[in-house]
Amino acid sequence: MKRSAVFQFLLVFVIIVQSQWSSVSGIYCKDMTATVYRPHSVTLTEFGAVGDGKTLNTKAFQNAIFYLNSFADKGGAQLFVPAGRWLTGSFSLISHLTLSLDKDAVIIGSSDSSDWPVMDPLPSYGRGRELPGERHQSLIFGWNLTDVIITGANGTIDGQGDIWWDWFQHGNLNYTRPHLIELMYSTNIVISNLTFKNSPFWNIHPVYCSQVLVEYVTILAPLDSPNTDGINPDSSTNVCIYHCYVRNGDDIIAIKSGWDEYGISFARPSSNISISNITGETRGGAGIAIGSEMSGGVSNVRAEGLRIVNSLHGIRIKTAPGRGGYVMNVYISDVSMHNVSRAIRITGNYGEHPDNNYDKNALPVISNITIENVVGVNVGIAGILEGIRGDNFSRICISNVSLSVQSMHPWSCSLIQGYSNSVTPESCEELNSDSGDTPVCYSGASSLPLRIQAYTHRISASGLLDTLLKLASM
Ligand SMILES: *[C@@H]1O[C@H](CO)[C@@H](O)[C@H](O)[C@H]1NC(C)=O
Ligand SMILES: *[C@@H]1O[C@H](CO)[C@@H](O)[C@H](O)[C@H]1NC(C)=O
Ligand SMILES: *[C@@H]1O[C@H](CO)[C@@H](O)[C@H](O)[C@H]1NC(C)=O
Ligand SMILES: *[C@@H]1O[C@H](CO)[C@@H](O)[C@H](O)[C@H]1NC(C)=O
Ligand SMILES: *[C@@H]1O[C@H](CO)[C@@H](O)[C@H](O)[C@H]1NC(C)=O
Ligand SMILES: *[C@@H]1O[C@H](CO)[C@@H](O)[C@H](O)[C@H]1NC(C)=O
Ligand SMILES: *[C@@H]1O[C@H](CO)[C@@H](O)[C@H](O)[C@H]1NC(C)=O
Ligand SMILES: *[C@@H]1O[C@H](CO)[C@@H](O)[C@H](O)[C@H]1NC(C)=O
Ligand SMILES: *[C@@H]1O[C@H](CO)[C@@H](O)[C@H](O)[C@H]1NC(C)=O
Ligand SMILES: *[C@@H]1O[C@H](CO)[C@@H](O)[C@H](O)[C@H]1NC(C)=O
Repeated sequence: MKRSAVFQFLLVFVIIVQSQWSSVSGIYCKDMTATVYRPHSVTLTEFGAVGDGKTLNTKAFQNAIFYLNSFADKGGAQLFVPAGRWLTGSFSLISHLTLSLDKDAVIIGSSDSSDWPVMDPLPSYGRGRELPGERHQSLIFGWNLTDVIITGANGTIDGQGDIWWDWFQHGNLNYTRPHLIELMYSTNIVISNLTFKNSPFWNIHPVYCSQVLVEYVTILAPLDSPNTDGINPDSSTNVCIYHCYVRNGDDIIAIKSGWDEYGISFARPSSNISISNITGETRGGAGIAIGSEMSGGVSNVRAEGLRIVNSLHGIRIKTAPGRGGYVMNVYISDVSMHNVSRAIRITGNYGEHPDNNYDKNALPVISNITIENVVGVNVGIAGILEGIRGDNFSRICISNVSLSVQSMHPWSCSLIQGYSNSVTPESCEELNSDSGDTPVCYSGASSLPLRIQAYTHRISASGLLDTLLKLASM
């Protein structure tokens, strides 16, 4: 009785504290917008492009962007893509550029693989993700860029992925498949108000980037299409993903940071990732995933407002011995799931290694993971939470989770430690570990900047929180 009364007070209190935080969770992207004024603008047709869906326009895109380079130091420029069907191979962007699509513009990826040149593998992967060696360059590509906006009034970028999925399924690929958009070593990037369709591989891949905002994006690919991940921030910091709808064949959002020994030695983490208001459906993936490539480390992730339907996994962390790295300080809240096979899954034996040179003793550290305020209907299994022998995953905290589950064995846990509160069906006993660990859940607090006013409140708040939790656990 006493315990539950304290918890009620506690939970109300948590809500008050959180509502202060949610207003600042977008801090990393607060100055970013898709509506920067560019003093110079050209239209793709001025460079000879033909929007008939048949003429290859790679040269027109390249020439337009080459021309706009001369305005980079004069406030930047815009390339406008008018209504039409613009077939093209891979092309590269420049800094201080807005690529803006009309609502009826469709940029279509060529179905001739030679229009997608091959390039070096990422240093943090050591090889192509699906085949050793080089990989195809993304349809829209960038390297060393700053101040780039890719936007439109919901215009479309269509990768014509079916031919790539077919090559993949029949073993006819020579190199790893391309993404729709990949930006490397870039900063101040906005991708907004567009529809991405039928990507050959992952859709949006910022890698070694910082200050990236992705919002109001729709991503569509058949539910059975292979590896058509939605948005994959990879070894990137200060990334915000808001207001997106994704229906695809693999993870809706997957946060990554390199693969085994290559990721460990490249050592470029993903951190400060803010995600909110995402709706999605994925037959074979997860609503939100971290890993399996996480060897450079992933920390300070905050995801709120996720709606996941008809999917295999809701929330997933994937790793394996050999990965090294860490996943720490993850806060996921306000999630609804409908018809999801596995609501929460943490996997320590994911496997998939780039080669046989990985260090079997490189064990990942998985700690400070909080998942709360989750409601699920028609869920298969509530949770499968599996750590690694000799490497318990710690401070896994699950709170205010209510799932209507079909399985007689809703939770299965091993080699994990943590804490749970108000979980239905009741979670496994591994999540009641009092093993000397103070039962305080990570709450997103440490990712808050000092300059926020609410900070002083928060200090006292979390002190009180500690006290309450201690009381409650007595
Ligand atoms: C993007 O779409 C949102 C929602 O429809 C709208 O509020 C916003 O103004 C749009 N932004 C741009 C740059 O078109
Ligand atoms: C990117 O910038 C680095 C450092 O300035 C430079 O060494 C490299 O050549 C640049 N790469 C490209 C493709 O521009
Ligand atoms: C954008 O287009 C997609 C695909 O046609 C559609 O599903 C989505 O509702 C559209 N979004 C907006 C904001 O109009
Ligand atoms: C792979 O290479 C072979 C030989 O060069 C070529 O015929 C084939 O079209 C290539 N496949 C793809 C998907 O590019
Ligand atoms: C949530 O995102 C959807 C697009 O998926 C958008 O239409 C809606 O306005 C967003 N809601 C809020 C509260 O911003
Ligand atoms: C539930 O999701 C599965 C795929 O995971 C799908 O095949 C099935 O049709 C969905 N059921 C309903 C009632 O939508
Ligand atoms: C528990 O989670 C549900 C669903 O997210 C939310 O509506 C409710 O307010 C939460 N309750 C508390 C006490 O935080
Ligand atoms: C690892 O966690 C299990 C519970 O899952 C616990 O029984 C065991 O004592 C823990 N091992 C260590 C070394 O803390
Ligand atoms: C886990 O979170 C707590 C605050 O909730 C923090 O004090 C601690 O340093 C975090 N642990 C790690 C490994 O970051
Ligand atoms: C993450 O965000 C915090 C707070 O805004 C900031 O102090 C820190 O420098 C950021 N980390 C990175 C790697 O940018």
